[in-house]
Amino acid sequence: MSSSPAIETADLVREFKKGPRAVDGVDIQVAPGEVFGFLGPNGAGKSTTVHMLTTLLPPTSGSARVAGHDVVEEGTRVRAAIGAALQEAALDPFLTGREHMKLQTALHGLPREQRARRGDELLGRVGLTDAADRKVGGYSGGMKRRLDLALALVHGPRILFLDEPTTGLDVQSRSALWAEVQRLASDDGVTVFLTTQYLEEADQLADRIAIIDRGKIVAQGTPDDLKDEIGRPSVEVIPAEPADLARMKSVLARFGESVASPPKAAAVRLSGGDAQLADVVRALDAEGIRVQHLQLHAPTLDDVFLAKTGRHLEGAGDGAAVEDAEPDPVAA
Ligand SMILES: Nc1ncnc2c1ncn2[C@@H]1O[C@H](COP(=O)(O)OP(=O)(O)OP(=O)(O)O)[C@@H](O)[C@H]1O
Ligand SMILES: [Mg+2]
Repeated sequence: MSSSPAIETADLVREFKKGPRAVDGVDIQVAPGEVFGFLGPNGAGKSTTVHMLTTLLPPTSGSARVAGHDVVEEGTRVRAAIGAALQEAALDPFLTGREHMKLQTALHGLPREQRARRGDELLGRVGLTDAADRKVGGYSGGMKRRLDLALALVHGPRILFLDEPTTGLDVQSRSALWAEVQRLASDDGVTVFLTTQYLEEADQLADRIAIIDRGKIVAQGTPDDLKDEIGRPSVEVIPAEPADLARMKSVLARFGESVASPPKAAAVRLSGGDAQLADVVRALDAEGIRVQHLQLHAPTLDDVFLAKTGRHLEGAGDGAAVEDAEPDPVAA
């Protein structure tokens, strides 16, 4: 990284009185202008990390710098540089969207004559112009998330923290939010630190990701690098005749080591990559094995998580975190 990092942590730890270390020695670096995805299951330590980086919670040990400032020693400077839309949005159901913006612009000390214009501009950007004068109590989950994002942007922060911004949103609201995050990063050069439980979100939106599990970073890099690191695609085949399964397995074994598959199918990881697919088809044909179904699986971030932790990401969360979960604990 050439310029100094937007976010940098060194052996960051947070312990709570009961239970294990919520954050257990996290080292991450986020470059300016980068969209950084912090991916992990329920209870992994995502929000706890965000709370430390946004100065809401002091670290137990280790250190973190945000926008070049120490989160403990220089909290005021950190707070001036960042915006945050946290998992539990603090919105007042009895105020309208416009009233929220008015309060927030005043709170951040914008000159009186700029407040209304800035508020309206941001409401427009997140698609809430038509709903601006409705009370927030009547907003949908997606509208609340978008208002929360607009509120976080009032003072033009250079670094934006979004804690599970799309959990519980429908597909359309989710892609609208992705588009806005992408625009903020590419047009305005905002650094975005975004937590998510969604593989697809990390994959599509983030330039780089860190995968966190039980307080520890288990993998870090670009989505493509992480997938390449764990390797080759696999091919899964179901024979037309169940009796051919054993013979089919021995043919497939020529192409790579076998991997888990449903009972009626066989699967191998292709040692020569997807180019081998045609050879597989020819070999099965040559043995007179008819195929009912054949599928190539490219490695996914879930394969990365599985390789690093022995579990699938979805459903990997700890039970304790589900119980004390936030208002919308929608599983991925
Ligand atoms: N205030 C607290 N007191 C005690 N334990 C806590 C507290 N906050 C979090 N924890 C525990 O720390 C661990 C990490 O929690 P955290 O909220 O950071 O997870 P998360 O990755 O944000 O999960 P989710 O996806 O459910 O939001 C969990 O085991 C949780 O129960
Ligand atoms: Mg959380």
